[in-house]
Amino acid sequence: MKVTTEIISWNETQSESNYSMVTEFIFLGLSNSRELQIFLFVFFFVFYVGIVFGNLLIVLTVSFDSHLHSPMYFLLANLSLIDLSLSSVTAPKMIADFFRKRKVISFKGCLTQIFLLHFFGGSELVILIAMAFDRYVAICKPLHYTTIMCGNVCIGIVSAAWGTGFLHSVSQLAFAVNLPFCGPNEVDSFYCDLPRVIKLACTDTYRLDIMVIANSGVLTVCSFVLLIISYTIILAIILRRPSDRSSKALSTLTAHITVVLLFFGPCIFIYAWPFPIRSLDKFLAVFYSVVTPLLNPVIYTLRNKDMKTAMRRLKK
Ligand SMILES: *[C@@H]1O[C@H](CO)[C@@H](O)[C@H](O)[C@H]1NC(C)=O
Repeated sequence: MKVTTEIISWNETQSESNYSMVTEFIFLGLSNSRELQIFLFVFFFVFYVGIVFGNLLIVLTVSFDSHLHSPMYFLLANLSLIDLSLSSVTAPKMIADFFRKRKVISFKGCLTQIFLLHFFGGSELVILIAMAFDRYVAICKPLHYTTIMCGNVCIGIVSAAWGTGFLHSVSQLAFAVNLPFCGPNEVDSFYCDLPRVIKLACTDTYRLDIMVIANSGVLTVCSFVLLIISYTIILAIILRRPSDRSSKALSTLTAHITVVLLFFGPCIFIYAWPFPIRSLDKFLAVFYSVVTPLLNPVIYTLRNKDMKTAMRRLKK
């Protein structure tokens, strides 16, 4: 293993303190095989372009089409914005890094990636819960829908999403900023995230691992359980009183549930699974960096008649 650590000359006081000596991290990337690299490069490039266009299209369509000015579409547009941001934290760097021999990220860059990843991830989680709540009110309390989901509530939800993302991210990062890094700096992945970066610290990381599981892990598992219960209740209610509107509701719900499974599956495996399989969770991370953010626009728009009509109107 080649040692690529660059150690600045430290004076004695600094090396005695807990100060980190690692100034950059090296990503090992997804694969070393040339053929696989070319394939992955094309795959990620196409997906990322799709993510940018797809999600921007949703945001523009919802913003400019007054027929779509309802809580569900506002939340959807906000979800698209978050998806685009989440993907932009990791994907562009990964794509640019593909053919670099040395995939370097600065220490600060690495912390920034961790911060933004958890910031947008935490916000996405709240938006997904809010979308479930919105469907619950629409389907189970249709008469009260406009009073419950009024403009202020929507703005409150979106603010709560950003607030939660921020608090979640800061509370996790607070533990990582002061970790002593004294040499090992190879991250076996294509982006920085806590479980992997913690492993490189020159200290007993057991408590930090627990902290990540307690924060990210519990948050994802609890939200996931909450969402599954909510959607089960909504589905049960729809199936009990079938009507002509229920088939449309059913297709919206299956779209939501698919997105929830795709988002939480990899997250739970990465943060909450007690016996992580390192080589596998590297590939699972691909899911929430390029697959889920692309599937949202695909799932929500291709199967949604209102959205399709609105896009056609926008084109004119
Ligand atoms: C996000 O939601 C808020 C509150 O409903 C809404 O005003 C805003 O337009 C949404 N953002 C986007 C990009 O649609």
